[in-house]
Amino acid sequence: MSNPFSKFIRQFNRTEMNLKFICLTGGLTILLITAVKCWYSYKCKELKFCDKLRNRAPSNYTLKVSSKLNCSLIGKLVNRDTDKHFDFFLTALAGGKFSIYINDPINLRYQVNDSLPEMPLETDMTVNVNMLDVGELVIIEFEDIKIYLSTDPFNLTVYREGQEIVKINPRQLLTFEEDPEAPVALDFNFPQALRAYGLPEHAERLALRTTTNGSEPYRLYNIDRYGYEVNSTQALYGSVPVLFGLGVNMTAGVFWLNSAQTFVDITHKKTGIDSYFISETGALEAFILTGPSLRDCVKQYINLTGVAPLPQMFALGHHQSRYSYMSQKEVLEVCNKFDENKFPLDVIWMDIDYTDKNKYFTWDPKTFPNPSSMLNALNKQGRKAVVIIDPHIKREKGYSVFDECESKEYFVKNPSGTSFKASCWPGLSSWIDFFNPEALNYYSALIADFAKSNNLHIWNDMNEPSVFEVQEQAMDGNCIHYEGWKHRDVHNQYGFYQTVGTYQGLIDRSNDEIRPFILTRSFFAGSQRYAAHWTGDNVASWEHLKYSIPMMLTEALCGLSFVGADVGGFSCNPTEELLQRWYQAGAWYPFFRAHSAVSTKRREPYLFNDKIQQRIRKSLQQRYKHLTYWYTMFWEHYLIGEPVIRPLSYEYSDDINTYDIDNEFLVGSDILVHPVTEKMAKNVTVYLPGGENELWYEIDNFNETYTGLGIKNLPVTLDTVPVFYRGGSIIPVKQTVRNTSVYMKDDPITLLVFLDKYNYAKGTVYDDDQVSFDYLSNKYTYVRFTFYNNSLRNEIIDDEASYDQATILNSVIFYGLKTTVSQVSVATKKSVPEEDLVKNMYTRNVTVNKNRATIDNLNLDIRHQFVIRFDENITFLE
Ligand code: GLC
Repeated sequence: MSNPFSKFIRQFNRTEMNLKFICLTGGLTILLITAVKCWYSYKCKELKFCDKLRNRAPSNYTLKVSSKLNCSLIGKLVNRDTDKHFDFFLTALAGGKFSIYINDPINLRYQVNDSLPEMPLETDMTVNVNMLDVGELVIIEFEDIKIYLSTDPFNLTVYREGQEIVKINPRQLLTFEEDPEAPVALDFNFPQALRAYGLPEHAERLALRTTTNGSEPYRLYNIDRYGYEVNSTQALYGSVPVLFGLGVNMTAGVFWLNSAQTFVDITHKKTGIDSYFISETGALEAFILTGPSLRDCVKQYINLTGVAPLPQMFALGHHQSRYSYMSQKEVLEVCNKFDENKFPLDVIWMDIDYTDKNKYFTWDPKTFPNPSSMLNALNKQGRKAVVIIDPHIKREKGYSVFDECESKEYFVKNPSGTSFKASCWPGLSSWIDFFNPEALNYYSALIADFAKSNNLHIWNDMNEPSVFEVQEQAMDGNCIHYEGWKHRDVHNQYGFYQTVGTYQGLIDRSNDEIRPFILTRSFFAGSQRYAAHWTGDNVASWEHLKYSIPMMLTEALCGLSFVGADVGGFSCNPTEELLQRWYQAGAWYPFFRAHSAVSTKRREPYLFNDKIQQRIRKSLQQRYKHLTYWYTMFWEHYLIGEPVIRPLSYEYSDDINTYDIDNEFLVGSDILVHPVTEKMAKNVTVYLPGGENELWYEIDNFNETYTGLGIKNLPVTLDTVPVFYRGGSIIPVKQTVRNTSVYMKDDPITLLVFLDKYNYAKGTVYDDDQVSFDYLSNKYTYVRFTFYNNSLRNEIIDDEASYDQATILNSVIFYGLKTTVSQVSVATKKSVPEEDLVKNMYTRNVTVNKNRATIDNLNLDIRHQFVIRFDENITFLE
């Protein structure tokens, strides 16, 4: 589909003049841009495959079951209209999942690889075939799942615990044709669902909309969308084709494993939700997630695609970036200013400006003449650097990366077999074909060589891939990848493979010792195993601040817990108020980076007046105080697949009122954050969940508690943000904030014990060397703390764990005590035989302030069992 403005649009989009123009003229520009279709996005009806299938009449398929193995049912799916036969497999998978796979054995279509780290574990099923008047009813059973498969017309109904949870092909929209270039489609219904969540990436609310009443379907097609529109179903940088149908009793999901451009229609009906997936090409592969809760569905999805590895601690700190740190001198100056002004900062970022004419794997010899000395200087400050590496390679003879890729045919090709050439940052460029294992190895070796210094990490940008001066800035679908697959087959997975290569390179550069940190703009299902993600080129506007929250929540539910948005907004200049509010929100993003476009005014926090500096500093300090909590949440994500940030509905799924809430979120299950996203806000309406027995302690005033009875209108000033700790939780914090997380490593922790209505609380702390992979050989400390019967105890969660360094607990502060205490007994098992414990018990004075009791100077090593008890009769409960 040709767009007469395309060339102009590309230029217009990327020039600095344009950036300024957009910011200066604000709303007016939006009108102008719409008029010239500056952010032109194809609509379904403009794409033949989508238009045709969106309006298709019911299809006519029948299944001929041919054999049954322990875990799979195999058959031939027959298109009645054309009499074409296709392979059909249904496989039962352990943990409440099953898959459907359809392909053409003669014209094999592209099946996505590597999104799943390994073959999912299969499980036995029983199959009973009953004859019907027309066709058969095949009843498949495994775990507590029952699937009724009707062979003619072909459709399936899935039951869990006797309730109907998913219908597959109920409207007979299944499409699978003989032509390998033809689209595939299938419809699913979630009879119990009240809301649909998932399908990132869109600048959309958490609860997805109905798209069949005049709106566009959700489009999954990784593209570069500078200054994207919010409140939209338009495609953005990444895609995860997983959809959850959230119901009160039963939540189910579908993971549509296809890397081609995909459209998804959603319809909310009186009962349940309909969805319809249409992909441009590829095999048909879908995984059904049977829940029964949202938490279960998310874990089932994570179980298929994997968890994010544990990041280094620094990666959870504060990152400072700007498109235009122009020299190594400037980089160091910025860092020094952060130190001088006491803004903690772990990472400084270098955008394309560090390169020699945008040739990746080079440094500009004039402005970055001695990168190792810069990296050493940063290292001394306890800092890391991140540099950008994009997938396009400047076509310049003599540039070794170009020469090698060209001669070895590592670039994506034109249909004619020559390297595909087009424009990007360096001018005329070609794109590495990361699908080619040899090219991928070559690229990994480049990364390993370039990033020799262990404090250098990588940012993969423009990897949708973004191609300038062409339609939608997207690579032509006819381009050819490894083994002859067309770009349109693999499009959404291109960026994924770049991160695979980057990850391998960073592993190799340290001989498997140091955990890599990678940030990627483009992503696909499974990207969480390699990289963190940010929401791309947002705008310094209140709307973008608002939408960052549902975008991150959706991504976290879909596996990508390590997610953030450019703090301050990438393009345009935030007002001072917006900037402060953004830092306050960003301090609670899993990935916390300030970034800004080259044309914007400088906005490093030290450039503002004292009052503003104080507020930004307070946000940064809050982040650093909670680093142990964040680290523990990332560990638990790695261990059990729980998202690090969660919508309220994840934890309180029996409360329907939480289903649409996406202006606040939970970090883990115990910290509730409601960023202020309204201009000049004086009050904020917060929803506190959990009912009358749930207590929420306000972060700035712990004496203020609220019950979880729903909506609360709370006053705010520019200095405050509603953040709450859940009663019943124990939160580790560090009292002293230093310039970087490295210098805080050995500082003791304080436990904040927030008692619930029953005088109970629990929490966990994870610690290790914060850098290496030693945690894989059990070198870590993982401890649970519980307070009950007036005693705080610790318990080693994993007996195998043996980290040889102490994590010291120095203070415990109890909130919500109903009695006044003045003394506690402390016993520790470390050095004494158990029978001598009582003899070795010592008492501590307690500072009591209102309902808060503080015990200081404990100096307890949390690896050894201890008890802190509010009376004299101390005994260990084993
Ligand atoms: C892209 C990125 C942005 C970066 C710029 C220059 O627009 O999204 O973060 O600053 O490219 O590399």
